[in-house]
Order: sequence, then C-alpha cells, then structure tokens
Amino acid sequence: MIRQLTLEKHLQRYSETVTQGLAVAAAVDAIAVAAVEIAELTGRGALSETSGLATGRNSDGDLQRDLDVQADAILRRCLGKLPIAAFASEEMREVEIGAREARICVAIDPLDGSSNIDINMTVGTIFSILPAPDDLDLAFAQRGTAQLAAGFVTYGPQTSLVLTLGDGVDIFTFDRAAGCFRLARRGVRIPDTADEFAINASNRRHWDPPVRAFIDECLAGADGPASRDFNMRWIGSLVAEAYRILTRGGVFLYPSDARPGYGDGRLRLVYEAHPIAFIVEQAGGVASTGRERILDLAAHSLHQRVPLIMGSSGEVRRVEQLHCDPLPAVSAPLFAQRGFFRL
Ligand code: AHG
Ligand code: MN
Ligand code: MN
Repeated sequence: MIRQLTLEKHLQRYSETVTQGLAVAAAVDAIAVAAVEIAELTGRGALSETSGLATGRNSDGDLQRDLDVQADAILRRCLGKLPIAAFASEEMREVEIGAREARICVAIDPLDGSSNIDINMTVGTIFSILPAPDDLDLAFAQRGTAQLAAGFVTYGPQTSLVLTLGDGVDIFTFDRAAGCFRLARRGVRIPDTADEFAINASNRRHWDPPVRAFIDECLAGADGPASRDFNMRWIGSLVAEAYRILTRGGVFLYPSDARPGYGDGRLRLVYEAHPIAFIVEQAGGVASTGRERILDLAAHSLHQRVPLIMGSSGEVRRVEQLHCDPLPAVSAPLFAQRGFFRL
C-alpha cells in the first residue's frame, strides 16, 4: 500500500543510492520540517500576529509581505543546520555563501503566490537543489539541467510536497494525525493534451502576437483551429497552477509582455522556473520560454526573470510553433467584430 511509504523512508532509500544523496535528502527533509511550521503559520490567517500585510519591497521590487519574511526565516533556520555551500532566496538580495566544502546549493522561493495570503488561497514554497561548483560565485549560474532535486510545497487544503529526485515525480501529503508526510501519488504524469489554459488575461493588450494567437485559438474553441472547447483558470499562485496541471493537465503561461519591467515576464528563473520546469519535465510535460527549453537556460543574475510556458506537451508545443512560425498578421483578430477582445 503506497500510503505506508513516508517521505523519510523515501529519502533514506534515495540517500543510499546516489552520490550527494545524503546531502540532498537532508536538505529535502529540512524543507519538509520547515513546511510544517509554515503551514501552521499560513493556516492561522488573521489569527496570527503575522499577516499578509505588505511590509516593504524585496530586492526584486516585489511587494514583500511579513509572511514572506517569516517563511524565509523558518526555511533558513531549518536549512541552516546543514552543510550548504551556497543559499539563495527570493527574499535575499545576494547569494549567501556557507560551508565551502559542502556538496549542494539551495535556492528557494519561500512563499510563492503571497498576494493570495489574505484571501485564503493556496500558496507554497518552491525549492531547487544544485551541485556545488568549484567556483561558488557561479552556484546559481548553472543550467537547469544541473539540478539534483527540485519541488514545491502547497499550503492549501492539503500540505503536500511535490518532489523530483531526478527519477520521476512523487507527491507526499502531510498526515496531520501521524505528523509525517506520506506518499499520496507515485510517478505523476501530465497528460499530453488538455483543455485548460491559465494566463492573466488582463494583460492581453501587452502580449506578443504568438501568445495572443494561442489564446485566441483557445477562446475560439470548437469553432476554431483547435476544434475543441477550453476552460480557463488563473489563481495567481504558480504552485497551485502547477499542482492542478500535475493533477489533470493543462497549460500555464506567464509570458513576457510590453509592460515596463515585464520584458522577460514576471517569474524568476533560478527559484521558480527552473524547479517547476524540472518537475514538469520529470512528469512528461514541457517547460519553455516559447522559444527555448527552460532547463537549458543558465541565469546571468540571481533574480533574473524569464517567460514561462509549461504543462501538457501538446499545448506548449503549439505555443512554441506559433513563436517559430507566426500566423500571418490579420487586420482584425477573431473577436474584434464580436467585441469580445479588442486590439
Ligand atoms: P511570488 O508571490 O513568489 O512573487 O510569486 C507570484 C507569482 C506566481 O506565483 C504567480 O503565478 C504570479 O506571480 C501572479 O502574477 P500576477 O499577479 O501578475 O498575475
Ligand atoms: Mn513566486
Ligand atoms: Mn515568493
């Protein structure tokens, strides 16, 4: 019965099989311990002295809520007990060099989707674990393919930890009664095609033509080139969107757009796109900028942003095709005459 397998046992088996396994397993275990504390904190909502109120801006200019800072502190405390060569966080301007002889580096988004905290929506923690390079200044300038492990935790109805150690994707759900993470889904696979797309449609007028063309195809549904109807979701929390796509397929787009500062989209390569892309590919999906494979990219700066289009391979490949072979410009897009979307 898979439910009997705990995260602890799973990590123990893994640590005995690969080099760096012990260090990776210890880091994932520390993140799981921190996640239980963060789940408790986010679960208290307005009852806790911390809240979703903004307390300032982080180094990337994003609104920083006190729960972002609290989650960061909890993860740093739990990971701080381990030998980690280099540590990076969305909430820290610079990389923190630790034990130079250590074998791994860790990058985190302590609280993803934090704009959702005060509306009681699922938020989460994203993590990426990399080998320690000789030159630690390049710790987070490695390609996404270098990752040893990656995953995310959702703080929602379930506290679930989605994990890849490089050999598929497993989901462990926290069993509050037993006080441990138990295996809930083993070898998760993303369906190759799906009828659900997720994008912040309020930005349509800022999108590049290939993204508009793809979304117009989805909106045209059975009347258009896709010959089937679609559904739309937008939660504003990457971890929640990723969990849905791992559960029933679909495509998520946070493309670059014409707004100032969004020329490379909104999501950060090192601690959002790389780990999510590793999970998505390990589950049989595709993660792309629209033109390039996310995992082939290496960051030139810690908080570098990147367009992220990920999910079911059929839909992501269609977006890539529209980037490579753009449709002929039309004078009035599909919906101009219906007024559904204006240019
Ligand atoms: P974070 O809270 O770590 O800054 O991440 C928020 C991200 C991502 O989770 C979500 O998909 C996206 O921002 C939502 O962006 P918009 O608010 O622009 O829709
Ligand atoms: Mn985030
Ligand atoms: Mn965040």
